[in-house]
Amino acid sequence: MALLEVQGLRTYFKTQEGTLKAVDGIDFMLEKGQAMGLAGESGCGKTTAALSIMKLLPANGYIAGGRINFMGQDMAKVTGDKLRAIRWRDISIIFQGAMNALNPVKRVGEQITEPIILHEKVDEAVAMKRAKELFEMVGINPNRIREYPHEFSGGMRQRVMIAMALACKPRLVIADEPTTALDVMIQAQIISLLKNLQKELDLAMIVISHDLSVLAETCEQLSIMYAGKIVERASSAEVFEDPQQPYTKGLIAAFPNIHGKKIMPASIAGNPPNLIRAPLGCRFAERCFMAKEVCLKEEPKLVEVKPGHWAACHFVPPLRG
Ligand SMILES: Nc1ncnc2c1ncn2[C@@H]1O[C@H](COP(=O)(O)OP(=O)(O)OP(=O)(O)O)[C@@H](O)[C@H]1O
Ligand SMILES: [Mg+2]
Repeated sequence: MALLEVQGLRTYFKTQEGTLKAVDGIDFMLEKGQAMGLAGESGCGKTTAALSIMKLLPANGYIAGGRINFMGQDMAKVTGDKLRAIRWRDISIIFQGAMNALNPVKRVGEQITEPIILHEKVDEAVAMKRAKELFEMVGINPNRIREYPHEFSGGMRQRVMIAMALACKPRLVIADEPTTALDVMIQAQIISLLKNLQKELDLAMIVISHDLSVLAETCEQLSIMYAGKIVERASSAEVFEDPQQPYTKGLIAAFPNIHGKKIMPASIAGNPPNLIRAPLGCRFAERCFMAKEVCLKEEPKLVEVKPGHWAACHFVPPLRG
């Protein structure tokens, strides 16, 4: 059985202008110890998908349909104490921009021991010992455990966040833009830290980023989101070597190649559609150089186009007719 299986997940927000369909029917699966990347431009629903799995949506957000099967239970239906027990103990999340969200008036050690004491019902000394081990694991000198967040650099605060996410030995860690606010050198360090921890602890991981190189390095599987849908899914190598869906092709082409040259593709000009009044057909149609009439009328389904490689485009023929 898969560790996490998301089927037909729809997450909507109530807004003054109407219902905003931020995640509109996505499917994916994650095995124990597997890392999946979730990519796509700003506003396509990556964070909303992550928050749905954790059931941490803002007050105007709700799961409108689908199933989130985690270790045999449907997260969409779990509530109360049972939900609180799963959060942090089994699934944890490194929030987007979280390194700036540490409580400034609390020592970092205390912020790590809190969930350990709460979830594992151990005393402070045991929790502190574990917090020090976690510091060591993420490459911070354990002697700094009593310092305050402002005494750490941005990269180190991100390491503290990773330590916090690992505090209760979860099976699944969701990392939402874990390196976006960091400079390139520190980014590389955090990426290799995440990669090593994932292997060492046999963690399942969902890494969210608009930076494809981060995902290529950390994840064996990639899902590309566009306007609330997954438009392509395959191994990272496949997505990079043989992207099928025009949006994915645009994303890959927009990326600096190994020689550092950046090619801006004409196909990706324009903006994603308004998710309150999403278009009927393919959501990428109005930006797509390949679009024909059918694309404006009919929504393409995500179909297997090569073994293990799925894409949603009217012009990519399915593997099995
Ligand atoms: N609380 C909210 N109320 C209304 N709409 C929201 C709310 N939170 C997010 N949205 C909308 O839902 C859509 C998806 O947002 P989300 O934050 O999931 O995107 P994202 O892919 O994580 O983007 P980014 O790369 O910028 O982090 C966007 O259109 C956003 O404006
Ligand atoms: Mg986000």
